[in-house]
Amino acid sequence: MDSEKKEEKIYPQGYEPVITPDISNDNTRNQLLDFILQSGPSEVVDTDLFAVMAKRRSTRKFSDKPVETTKIDKIIAAADTAPTAGNYQGFEIFYVKSPEKKKLLVGACNNQPYVDAPVVLVFCKNPSRVKFDFPEYILAKFAIQDATLAAGYSQLASQALGLSSIWIGMFDEQKVMEVIGTDLIPSSVLCIGYPEQTKFPKPRRNLKDLVHVVW
Ligand SMILES: Cc1cc2nc3c(=O)[nH]c(=O)nc-3n(C[C@H](O)[C@H](O)[C@H](O)COP(=O)(O)O)c2cc1C
Repeated sequence: MDSEKKEEKIYPQGYEPVITPDISNDNTRNQLLDFILQSGPSEVVDTDLFAVMAKRRSTRKFSDKPVETTKIDKIIAAADTAPTAGNYQGFEIFYVKSPEKKKLLVGACNNQPYVDAPVVLVFCKNPSRVKFDFPEYILAKFAIQDATLAAGYSQLASQALGLSSIWIGMFDEQKVMEVIGTDLIPSSVLCIGYPEQTKFPKPRRNLKDLVHVVW
């Protein structure tokens, strides 16, 4: 696969944030990122990170209320703030807008109906971006961590913006790749929207059982 061909496949949707700053120098991406992260009314954002973490709960029933584009931009920008191996950003985000493709994704995700959510983001590994001179399996390991962490950041950002989400890990990789039109392997599908109802967080194991102290 030559790199030009791959480039075409990675950015098929032509994503444009709803508001963009007047940028005059070459440092476009970072200015844009900061602008999106700082923009919008602050009252819609819960800035208490630990409260956001404490309240997050997976949602499989979304209301029909559309998600504001400014919120979607912030969720995507949040992914781009995540650390990545060597800062090579070994992942890509596919923002699935087409209702027809969302329906096909439901099928690719073991017929989980809630994949047809107001906002659907597919996080894919892109080990070819990770330019370390390490064996391929290490680059693949970095790319899956990059993609997973980025999706986690987006999930928390969604919660902070008053939305809810469901992380989908149960899917047929090949089918998802066909639907979104890429040769990159997906790591997760993040489905986001306003929850039909707010639920209490699920219980976890006792922290004492979770942590293993190593001296
Ligand atoms: C790696 C991973 C894969 C998951 N895959 C699915 C999935 O395919 N379908 C689904 O409904 N939920 C999936 N979930 C969501 C979990 O079921 C959910 O996070 C878990 O029950 C804990 O609930 P909470 O998120 O509300 O704390 C997945 C979560 C993770 C982290």
